[in-house]
Parts: sequence; C-alpha cells; structure tokens
Amino acid sequence: MKTRIALLLSFSLATTASAADEAAAELWTQKCKSCHGPDGRAQTQMGKKESIVDLSQPAWQKAQSDDDIREVISEGSSRNKKMKPYKEKLTPEQIDSLVKYVRTFKKG
Ligand code: HEC
Repeated sequence: MKTRIALLLSFSLATTASAADEAAAELWTQKCKSCHGPDGRAQTQMGKKESIVDLSQPAWQKAQSDDDIREVISEGSSRNKKMKPYKEKLTPEQIDSLVKYVRTFKKG
C-alpha cells in the first residue's frame, strides 16, 4: 500500500514538471520563436536583421544570470526596442518558466 502511494506521488510530481515545461515550450512558440527561432539561435529574418544573439551559445549562457534573463524578458532590452517588455503580458511564473526554457538551449 505504501509503495503504491509513493509511486502515485512520484508519478504526479513528474507529470506536473513536464506540464510546466510544455507550457513554457508553448509560450516560446507563441511569443518568442518568430524572432529567436525554435532553438534560440535566431536564424530568422528578424534575428538576422537585428543581429539577435544566439541564445544557445555557451559564452552567452555563461555571461547571463537567471536574473539577467528574467530582467530582459520583463523589462525589454534597452539596446534594442524590438525586444519588448513582457511584464504586462505574462505572469511572473510564466516569465520564470521562460528563463528555464532559455537555459535548455545551452549546448553540451
Ligand atoms: C519582435 C522580435 C522579438 C520577439 C518576439 C522576442 N524577442 Fe527577445 N530579443 C529580440 C531582439 C532584437 C533582441 C536583442 C536585444 C539586444 O541586442 O539587446 C532580443 C534579446 C533577447 C534576449 C537576450 C538579451 C541579452 O541581453 O542578451 C533574451 C533572453 C530574449 N530576447 C528573450 C525573449 C523571450 C523569452 C521572448 C518571448 C517572450 C522574446 N525574447 C521575444 C527580439 C525579440
């Protein structure tokens, strides 16, 4: 009986985590992919035109703290107005999930 409860519990925890990941992937596709591309490498028309940084580059990943990434998503970029602030459009939880999602672009 105890084992069954433990199994059920770990199963529901696992599904919650992947649901959050899926929600972040969905958000990325809807709101970010058009400029940053599916993989964050910005091989898009806008990406090339605006020379958007490749978010999968290890050097970029290393230079950014989670707070830096959160800040640019919330407040937009001061360097390029095409990167808009999302704090009115997304909840803090959604922004956090996108920070994690951006981290998944890291190679190797
Ligand atoms: C209309 C095009 C566009 C969309 C849509 C867009 N971005 Fe950007 N993003 C940019 C541009 C342009 C830059 C480069 C800004 C710069 O040089 O500072 C950028 C930069 C970034 C950076 C790196 C900033 C840095 O300091 O290196 C992150 C992280 C980022 N965007 C995340 C997102 C997320 C998450 C979304 C979706 C919620 C999103 N972007 C949607 C255009 C866009």
